[in-house]
Amino acid sequence: MDAIGELQAYEQAALAAIAAADGAAALESVRIEFLGRKHGRLRELQTLLGQVEPPQRPAVGKQFNDAKSKVEGAFEARKQELARPKSVASGVDITLPGTPLALGRKHPLTQTIDEFKDIMGRFGFSVADGPELEDEWHNFEALNVPEDHPARDPLDNFYVAAAAATANAGAAKDGNGRPVLLRSQTSTVQIRVMERQRPPVRIVCLGRVYRPDTIDATHSCMFHQMEGLMVGRGVTMAHLKTVIRMLFTAYLGHDVSIRFRPSFFPFTEPSVEVDIPWEGGWLEMGGAGMVDPHVLEAVQYDPEEFTGFAFGFGIERLCMKRHAITDIRRFYENDLRFLRQF
Ligand code: PHE
Repeated sequence: MDAIGELQAYEQAALAAIAAADGAAALESVRIEFLGRKHGRLRELQTLLGQVEPPQRPAVGKQFNDAKSKVEGAFEARKQELARPKSVASGVDITLPGTPLALGRKHPLTQTIDEFKDIMGRFGFSVADGPELEDEWHNFEALNVPEDHPARDPLDNFYVAAAAATANAGAAKDGNGRPVLLRSQTSTVQIRVMERQRPPVRIVCLGRVYRPDTIDATHSCMFHQMEGLMVGRGVTMAHLKTVIRMLFTAYLGHDVSIRFRPSFFPFTEPSVEVDIPWEGGWLEMGGAGMVDPHVLEAVQYDPEEFTGFAFGFGIERLCMKRHAITDIRRFYENDLRFLRQF
C-alpha cells in the first residue's frame, strides 16, 4: 500500500474506533493507540514520511496533516460528547439553565389569617370552622336575633334562592325546610362550637362573611372576620379587653391606640365596638362583648355557672391598618403589582 493509502486506512480505522468508544476509558485507549506520542499509529506513520519520494512529499504531507487534524478533532468531539449527559443526544440538553420559576406567594389576607391564628394560638385559642351557607338558627335565632329583628331583613342578607333545577318557588331550604343564607357574621360558629362542646371554650374562627353593603374604600359585600369566643367560670369583661389589647398590640405594635365604645349586639351584653385611629378619625374594627345569657341558654349552657366573651373583627381592616392600605377593593382585584408587595 502506498503512503496515501496507509494514511487513509489509518484515518478510517481511527474514526471508527473513536465513534465506537463508549466511555472515557475506552476512548483513552483509542487515543493511546491512534494518537499516542510514543507508540501511537500516527507516530509510526510519521516515520514513514521520511521514506516517501521527494515529488510525492507535498501530497503525502498534506494527507498526513488532514488525517491528523480530523482524528484529533473527532477525538475531542467524542470526548465532550461522552462528558455530557445522555439526554443531550436525544435533543434535551439538561445542562442548559432552566426557565426560571416565578414563585408565588400567599395573598396578604391569607398571611393575615395565618398570623392571627398564630397570635391567638399563643393565647390558648384553637381554630374552629363552620359553613358559609348557614341556616337562620345559627345566623340569627340562637344569637338572640328574633324573627322580627331588622337584621334579618332579606334586603340586608344574601338569602340563597333555590337552584333553578329544584326551584318550585322561593328560597333554598335546609334539611328542616328552613331558609338558608350566606352567613352575615362568623358569630354563627360560636353557636356551632358551643352546641358540640362543654365549657371551657376558647376558639377563634376566621372566614368569609357576606353582606349586601354598598362597596366603597372600607366596605365590601364579601369580607373576612375573625370571631373569638371564650366561655368558662368567672370570665369577665377585663379578660375581653386584655385579650383584644394583646391581639391588637401583637399585630399592630405596642403603640396602637384602641378605643372601646359602648354599643349593642343582640348576642352580647354589655357590648362594645372597637375602633382604631384611621385617616384623622377612628374606624371600627369590629364588635365584642359578654355573651348574652340567652345565647348561653340556647346552647344549654347554664348562665349562672358560666360566663363568656366574644368578639368579631374585620380581617381586611386590621390588615389595611398594618400595611397602610387605603382601599379594601385592592384585596380582591388580583393585581399582581399590589399582591407582590406582600
Ligand atoms: N358579629 C358582629 C358583627 O358582625 C361582631 C360581634 C362578634 C359582636 C362577637 C359581638 C360579639 O358585627
